[in-house]
Amino acid sequence: MKPEEIERMRDEALAAFAAAGDLDALQEAKVAHTGGTSPLALANREIGALPPQAKAAAGKLVGQARGAVNKALATRQAELEADRDARVLVEEAVDVTLPYDRVPAGARHPLTTFMERVADVFVSMGYEIAEGPEVEAEWFNFDALNFTPDHPARQMQDTFFVQGPKGTEGDESGVVLRTHTSPVQARAMLDREPPVYIVCPGRVYRTDELDATHTPVFHQIELLAIDEGLTMADLKGTLDHMVQALFGAEMKTRLRPNYFPFTEPSAEMDMLCYVCKGESVGNPDRPCRTCSSEGWIELGGCGMVNPRVLVACGVDPEKYSGFAFGFGIERMLMFRHNVEDMRDIVEGDVRFTRPFGMEI
Ligand code: PHE
Repeated sequence: MKPEEIERMRDEALAAFAAAGDLDALQEAKVAHTGGTSPLALANREIGALPPQAKAAAGKLVGQARGAVNKALATRQAELEADRDARVLVEEAVDVTLPYDRVPAGARHPLTTFMERVADVFVSMGYEIAEGPEVEAEWFNFDALNFTPDHPARQMQDTFFVQGPKGTEGDESGVVLRTHTSPVQARAMLDREPPVYIVCPGRVYRTDELDATHTPVFHQIELLAIDEGLTMADLKGTLDHMVQALFGAEMKTRLRPNYFPFTEPSAEMDMLCYVCKGESVGNPDRPCRTCSSEGWIELGGCGMVNPRVLVACGVDPEKYSGFAFGFGIERMLMFRHNVEDMRDIVEGDVRFTRPFGMEI
């Protein structure tokens, strides 16, 4: 066993490893130079057959050569793996900014689906959906609802006038963009014989600037019930049913005195805060962002239909009574989904609507 031969075997192995350009080639070189039939393995096996005095030197010689070969193999293996990893990072990189070619399924706006969900609560109770025009006669929007001619709500600063206002020179009949859905109450009473049970979801307009809490175009849902013997208790029960259907069985409402020209008595309706259920009140350890620890959330206005409105709309107030309420959909959507800026609802950016899902 000549040292030059062992060294040649070693050098051939080192050269083969250095020449291997990728991990497959290195694997072949590894089998050829370190495998069971490689020259160094065969040399190693021959040691056993040597005379005892030659064994130690031969063992050292072959052992050193194999050690050098294994070390070179490991080094080259690490180099080639690092090369491969670097290449994979580049070749298999995904450019997440590339436009994608799939067209996502469309979905209706959360305002629309929420408004329908509210309306459905009443449809399932037998109410009918009623509609009215958004460009409305001043008479329906105000006069029929017992707004006196000098009522502040008629003023230019609240109302978009299309024609008029009524009484301005040469213009007897004002036309407005409706400021609430209540004119549909008047239309419904004039169109139908009592009993009347209607809900009216729809768009309304006021001369507000668009900001985090206002929009000049927004949505309301109106309810009107006219029948014999209806009382405030029916109104309260209807409101409770609505909030329970929308927010859960443990929900309830409360009424606070208020004034509207078209209802008497009138009330502001609040619902129990559906997040803290009132437990944040007077409890600094459990503050509630949704209701500002008030325990209640203001929904909108309601009341018993003013007999003057019944008369103006051809309903006999001796025989019939009724209740009505109306509230803003945007506000409701905002606290139901923690929307902080009303502009997000208006602007139509799909990044806002997408988390609401694909409900159609
Ligand atoms: N129309 C009223 C508003 O827009 C709300 C309301 C509706 C009040 C029905 C009482 C009855 O503020």
